[in-house]
Amino acid sequence: GAQPPPGPLQNTSTKLVNDENHPYVMPGPKDIRGPCPGLNTLASHGYLPRDGIATPQQIVNAVQEGFNMENRLAIFVTWGAFLVDGNPITNLMSIGGRTGKTGPNPPPPAIVGGLNTHGLFEGDASTTRSDFYFGDNFSFNDTLFQDFINASITYGGGFYNQEAAAELRWNRIQDSIARNPTFTFLSPRPASAFGESSFPIDFLFPDGFHRREGAFGFGRPGIGDDVRVLFNAHPISPGHNEGAGNYVLNPEDPGLAAGSCFIYTQHVNVTIRGLYPNPKGHLRKSLRAGIATFYNAVAWPTCAQLFPYGVD
Ligand code: HEM
Ligand code: MG
Repeated sequence: GAQPPPGPLQNTSTKLVNDENHPYVMPGPKDIRGPCPGLNTLASHGYLPRDGIATPQQIVNAVQEGFNMENRLAIFVTWGAFLVDGNPITNLMSIGGRTGKTGPNPPPPAIVGGLNTHGLFEGDASTTRSDFYFGDNFSFNDTLFQDFINASITYGGGFYNQEAAAELRWNRIQDSIARNPTFTFLSPRPASAFGESSFPIDFLFPDGFHRREGAFGFGRPGIGDDVRVLFNAHPISPGHNEGAGNYVLNPEDPGLAAGSCFIYTQHVNVTIRGLYPNPKGHLRKSLRAGIATFYNAVAWPTCAQLFPYGVD
């Protein structure tokens, strides 16, 4: 996290992703994969290290190169994840489960658990992964993917479009409310859930695995427009279950209404400070730099910058 993030691509035209330098190789038993189909694919095509351990810089470069994710959205998501799931001392993160390959860990309560870690970035009501409560929040789930196909047939005329995405998103949330007594839908999960439901439309389906034409991210049109369309089809306020079927609202959480500003403030002041209450030395410097990088990518222009670990 201490090193600066990569800049945007110079050339954002479409191109073959599955080219001769980036063949798909099935991950071996020691290669790590996790809850993100985008990053899993990039690792299996060698845009990320095939073992699934990467620096945040490598992740931003890979999502730009492989999917044309726009620079600021790529940095926002990557640093948002890295600061809670990665190792700020070694600058390495697992795209799946916890591993010694990310090097010596900072002291607890820091977790450094990789992207599988529940409740920091990974959250409930995912499209193709089960809720943590049901035991596996990271593996591709065939039954859920069948729901994805069925929604595309029923609502999208055979395509995973915004109509299909909106209905499937709503169904996944309703299913979790009904069955998961620990269901939680608090920031940043509303933004990531609605955003990720749009990702396959924005990034995943050009013929023969080409990347999309032009970068896509916080611009207009951009991910904010998609989130609005899906959310408006079936609005839901932030909340959590107190027992299966009993969804209780958390009105102190403005959810999507405050854009990425509440997400930023909550992430820095509550989540990151919770994991790193009193960092020292290189760790402190690295967190400070990482939080500044995260701030610079925030899309909401009126956010006040926070300095939990001081300034240089
Ligand atoms: C889900 C991380 C980029 C596609 C997730 C999840 C994480 C994650 C932690 C799990 C959240 C959850 O559903 O509980 C990241 C990071 C990225 C990134 C750190 C760095 C920029 C991308 C890109 C794509 C993508 C470029 C598209 C090509 C998806 C999709 C899901 C997802 C479709 C939802 C999967 C589901 O609901 O079953 N990502 N992601 N991600 N990601 Fe990524
Ligand atoms: Mg999940």
